[in-house]
Amino acid sequence: MSISIRCIPPTSCLPPVRSIRGATDEQIRNALCNLRQLYCPLRRLSVSLHSRKDAKAVISQVLQPTDSGYASQDDDEDDETSEVEDTNATLRADTFERDFAVRWLTALIARAEELSFDPDLVDEAAFILASFSDIEDEGPDQALTRDFCFPSLFHSSASTKIEVRLNDAPLSTTDHTDVGLQSWGASIILSDMMCASPGRFGLEKLDPGCTIVELGAGTGLVSLTLAKMLQQSYITDATLVATDYHPAVLQNLDRNIRTNFPSNDTAPVKAMMLDWSAPVLAPPLDKPASMVVAADVIYAPEHATWLRDCAGLLLGGDCHFWLIVTVRTVGKFEGIADTVETAFSAADCPKKNGKTLQILEKEVLEKRKGIGRGDETAYNLYKIGWRE
Ligand SMILES: C[S@@+](CC[C@H](N)C(=O)[O-])C[C@H]1O[C@@H](n2cnc3c(N)ncnc32)[C@H](O)[C@@H]1O
Repeated sequence: MSISIRCIPPTSCLPPVRSIRGATDEQIRNALCNLRQLYCPLRRLSVSLHSRKDAKAVISQVLQPTDSGYASQDDDEDDETSEVEDTNATLRADTFERDFAVRWLTALIARAEELSFDPDLVDEAAFILASFSDIEDEGPDQALTRDFCFPSLFHSSASTKIEVRLNDAPLSTTDHTDVGLQSWGASIILSDMMCASPGRFGLEKLDPGCTIVELGAGTGLVSLTLAKMLQQSYITDATLVATDYHPAVLQNLDRNIRTNFPSNDTAPVKAMMLDWSAPVLAPPLDKPASMVVAADVIYAPEHATWLRDCAGLLLGGDCHFWLIVTVRTVGKFEGIADTVETAFSAADCPKKNGKTLQILEKEVLEKRKGIGRGDETAYNLYKIGWRE
């Protein structure tokens, strides 16, 4: 399902500025929601911990659940979605409507002190306003460069910084399967946690020459973060394999690897095609992985079983699969997060040397302010490994 909400022209839906004091929070919230749908299409809805512009740092949680745009719609929905998207695109290009929206947002923010609206609404208005200058800055392809900076305690008593630069390419309006062109909240949270608590993830015990595999890597944030961490340690010869199945996603992933490791010969991260539904373990995936990671990869009923079996093929003994699952409680994603525990309690779980692949630990992580889309309510972090 992708964005398929028909937006209303700003001139028809925004409460007049002169009487804005009399508007309720609900009216302002609805007006902002419409503006966000119209002027901040899906590709701009996520924010990083350390985003490029100050204006974006003020984003609050999305005010109403926003569709995650995952690949799960049927043909009728496709037609309807593209018709609505065309209408929205025409409206978006209307400079009169845009100027009206800019003036309204500016007036709302300017009067924030005297109005007693929920402060989150003012943050939201600032975010939408900031996105107008992004559109102009970033050129026609509307790709977004995002800089991430995670404090790291890896092999150091003092905090160092892990910096990753990513290209979040625009999502195509016709291909609803290219969700990996965006960095999702779960990958930001997992990267941050690995930097902050490397011991918890066994990173300090990795062997030199080890292989780490990411499944459904998307833009590659987790793999690139791990690669930069390992480079700061004695493990300079690890192989990180960032895998995905979507050609456009793999191409963007390759670009992100080159951005972060400009010398291609020595880049410690390799992008590879791997489809969980039919995994082919070409080298270096034929070697048992010391660690498997995956972020926000459970969004269809079959994903948990595919990933379980795929991880079972890849994961070495005494090694762990770290899976962070985004919990979405609205729409067609409701209940999908629960499929993980169902998959791992089934009798056909992968087995190796008398052991079964099992969930060893689960932690429920709260949504963090400013990270992730509006329909993300929490994250389940699983430590999965072989157990007798
Ligand atoms: C929501 S994105 C998450 C991307 C990234 N891990 C993140 O958190 O930003 C899901 C990713 O899984 C990939 N994916 C979906 N189905 C897959 C499959 N059968 N095999 C491999 N990758 C798949 C998509 O191409 C996409 O990159």
